[in-house]
Amino acid sequence: MLSRRSVLVGAAALAGAGLFGRPDAAPAFSRALPPPLPPGPETTVRLDLTAAERQLALPCSNGHALPLWTFTDQATPPIVRLKLGQRLDTHLINGLTRPGEHVSIHWHGIRLPNDQDGVPYLVQQPVEPGESYDYSFVPPDPGTFFFHTHCNTVEQLGRGLMGLLIIEGDETEPYDAERILAVRDWRLNPDRSGFLPFLTLEGAGKAGTFGTVRSVNGASNPDIEVPASADVRLRVLNVDPTRVSEIGFDGADAVVVAIDGLACPPFPLRSWKMGPAMRIDVVLRTPADGGSVTMFDYFAASPVPLARLVARGPAIRTQRFDPAPLAAARIAPPDLGKAEQQLFTFSATATGAAVADAAGEDGGPLGPLCLSAGSLWAINKQSWPGSGMDRLPPPIARFTRGTTYRCTLKNVTPRMHPIHVHGHSFTVLRSSKRTLPPHFADTVLLLPEETIEVAFVADNPGRWMMHCHIIEHQETGMMAWFEVA
Ligand code: C2O
Ligand code: CU
Repeated sequence: MLSRRSVLVGAAALAGAGLFGRPDAAPAFSRALPPPLPPGPETTVRLDLTAAERQLALPCSNGHALPLWTFTDQATPPIVRLKLGQRLDTHLINGLTRPGEHVSIHWHGIRLPNDQDGVPYLVQQPVEPGESYDYSFVPPDPGTFFFHTHCNTVEQLGRGLMGLLIIEGDETEPYDAERILAVRDWRLNPDRSGFLPFLTLEGAGKAGTFGTVRSVNGASNPDIEVPASADVRLRVLNVDPTRVSEIGFDGADAVVVAIDGLACPPFPLRSWKMGPAMRIDVVLRTPADGGSVTMFDYFAASPVPLARLVARGPAIRTQRFDPAPLAAARIAPPDLGKAEQQLFTFSATATGAAVADAAGEDGGPLGPLCLSAGSLWAINKQSWPGSGMDRLPPPIARFTRGTTYRCTLKNVTPRMHPIHVHGHSFTVLRSSKRTLPPHFADTVLLLPEETIEVAFVADNPGRWMMHCHIIEHQETGMMAWFEVA
């Protein structure tokens, strides 16, 4: 247990660190995690989701009802909770009425059987308006996950169509409380009474089209009550379609205990760059009654406060801050000695580069370039054909089941790309630009011109997507699939 002391030292040292411009966390750790906890009984949880347009006000829409697309009658995403070992049976109805507006559900980060992965055309038929579809699987890992549709996602996610999926069963010593912090923007007009266009060619060719109203759990910079002097688990999700945020907390010691849902040896959080779809679980020691902690996005000229945790009530803990790690996930470790090498290069197409050069930040005229919005980005020089999913290209790679692959993810663009792989969690080994702790992830952020090496055992047979999770990049070409057989 000796390295828990080093967490303390790190956290104490950070308490005096300055607020602004803090670098990425760069811990080196070697601590072994407690072994995986056994799953509980396989009881079944039933979930009914009806994708539909519903006129609902968001907490951040100044009382205006918006034409949201949601899975339930509430404006904010449903929170689905299971215990490890439980089966989730979902009945999905497509209640959208626009002709051809099909849906399906991708359970992001869940290592499930391929036919439950929710990618239209690749693993299932799309669910057309008026149709329904059933999913059934037992999530194999505890952690913080989410789900979303997988076609026309710029608009569907832009209008709110998603849910959160929490699999309990990883706490070795329970924390005192838990809060979910789902971070995203909304593309709202100035009085917040309606949506702005979700996709712009200027955005798609650059960093993406940012929302205009930032939110946590649908609210602008909310106050969230937490118990005082307590160890609180925060499940932080970047569920934005576009924006990369650099998340940190001011006013408390905080440690990261999981990345993309999966346990990592705790390390002090200074700030963590989170691309769309990335998650971290953080434990922090809340202040005494009346005190507050602010969650910031530091990835801005001046840090943007996103939410405030307000401590209330009698002190729960008096001993030093020393949160227990989560139990390890049950994931096959890559066999690096026997790994096969694979290179993936993420680039702009000729058109994409021209768009990026031609379009001013103000979105100036683009001329004939507008005609080929379908292919601005590529993986290994291959752009996904068309903006939908119905034209499947050949697979970008074929992997042999059971083999370890060591993949070099090379970003040759001046933009960031959070790269997501379906059906597997990989180990992030190293970056050409940063010191990153080795950790499991299903989505890894490539900084501009950065190369990151990851490795994974291709142990889940089927046809799996790999794509940028800046949805406009995904839907303008930076998407591919690979086969494990
Ligand atoms: Cu969260 Cu293929 O996506
Ligand atoms: Cu991208």
